[in-house]
Amino acid sequence: MVATGAAAGLGNIWKFPYIAGENGGGAFVLVYLGCILLIGLPVFAAELVLGRMGDHNVVDSFNRIAAEAGRSSRWSAIGWIGLLAVFLILSFYGVVGGWAFAYLAASVGDLFTVGEKATPPGAIVQAFNGLTGDPVRSVAWQTLFMGGTALIVGTGVRAGIERLSRLLVPLLFVLLSLMAIYGAVATNHFGAALSFLFAPDFSRLNANSLLIALGHAFFTLGVGVGAMLTFGSYLPKRIGLVRACVAVACLDTAMALLAGLAIFPIVFASAIEPGAGPGLVFITLPIAFSGMAGGDVLGLVFFAVLAIAALTSSPSLLEPVVEFIREKAAVRRRTAAVVAAGAVWALGVVQALSFSVWSGITPFGKSIFDLSAYLATNVLLPIGGILIALFAGWVVPWCRTAGSDGIGGGKLHRLWRLCVRYVAPAGVLIVMLNGLAGGLLR
Ligand code: TRP
Repeated sequence: MVATGAAAGLGNIWKFPYIAGENGGGAFVLVYLGCILLIGLPVFAAELVLGRMGDHNVVDSFNRIAAEAGRSSRWSAIGWIGLLAVFLILSFYGVVGGWAFAYLAASVGDLFTVGEKATPPGAIVQAFNGLTGDPVRSVAWQTLFMGGTALIVGTGVRAGIERLSRLLVPLLFVLLSLMAIYGAVATNHFGAALSFLFAPDFSRLNANSLLIALGHAFFTLGVGVGAMLTFGSYLPKRIGLVRACVAVACLDTAMALLAGLAIFPIVFASAIEPGAGPGLVFITLPIAFSGMAGGDVLGLVFFAVLAIAALTSSPSLLEPVVEFIREKAAVRRRTAAVVAAGAVWALGVVQALSFSVWSGITPFGKSIFDLSAYLATNVLLPIGGILIALFAGWVVPWCRTAGSDGIGGGKLHRLWRLCVRYVAPAGVLIVMLNGLAGGLLR
């Protein structure tokens, strides 16, 4: 449940629908599913195996396993890359999480006044720009979000992260399903949403969209940085790894598709262009809510979903750093959580301000926020993924991963070895080089 909560987050609800929209709908979804199956899932299983074998924080897990296999301790660099990546990801994740909190508060208030006094579209665009462009408000919400994350992680894996996930993850599914059902019965546009998500338009796919699909496969599963590795080290031996990661990947994918089916009927019903970029859930959707009967309630439900999804994912990004500090500095979990969250928060302030006072700083033609998101998702995650796959496939001896604590013997194990040794590294490398040439160096 914790891993499902970690996987199902802003990536599923805020990001997946708009990148699918921008990259050809069904064609993109198909490529994305392929990436999950052939690359994401094997790397996910590798992380759980390595976590179980290493039984420590990310850096020391790689150290220990490499030492046991008689290999160089330099392999622990993978752990460092992972720590860097979660650090960077959480810094911008916290900003968007803060927006989700702000919108939830605004929907309890009067952001969506429907009927005659309906909030005009201009006011909603203004509300978004006002929030992101106001340094004080955006940092305040980001601070609140990071504080919440620190509190959850500081409380403990069992008492904090696990208790929260058990409660909120099922709620997330129920609320999103209700919204999708609403879209199916109350709008006449469910069919349009279905064909948008599932009818492939291959002409809109290019090298960059392949990279986006790959990066998102890592991002949405939460793999490639050692976060799942850290959870793997806590997973009781009686629980089968393969079943666990297949279940999480299925639930995560279901959540992304469900989010698409919840969002697009409403967007289509209001006749607004669907590929509206990152503003899709913060601008387009609120405009749609304001124009429809019951939109105030629906808006409230939706932003509750978004806030919950963010808050069950962010702990998994903080946990690897906390576990590392806790073991290395021999401090209490709570202390480690405050230190780690404080450092991430500080970098997050820079991210938040890149929408206002520092919006003029645009290396590579991207804002600091966009550049961080691009680098983390499309460079650090795939590189981390390749290295984890290579490590699990080439450094860890066959007999160690074939055991019942690992993947288990037989055909499945052979298939998995094949994926982590060849398919995943080669696939990632090809897609990455192609996509980077078109994306960052444009
Ligand atoms: N998967 C989460 C989402 O879709 C984000 C996330 C959680 C993540 N843990 C991660 C991304 C680890 C990369 C690595 O929103």
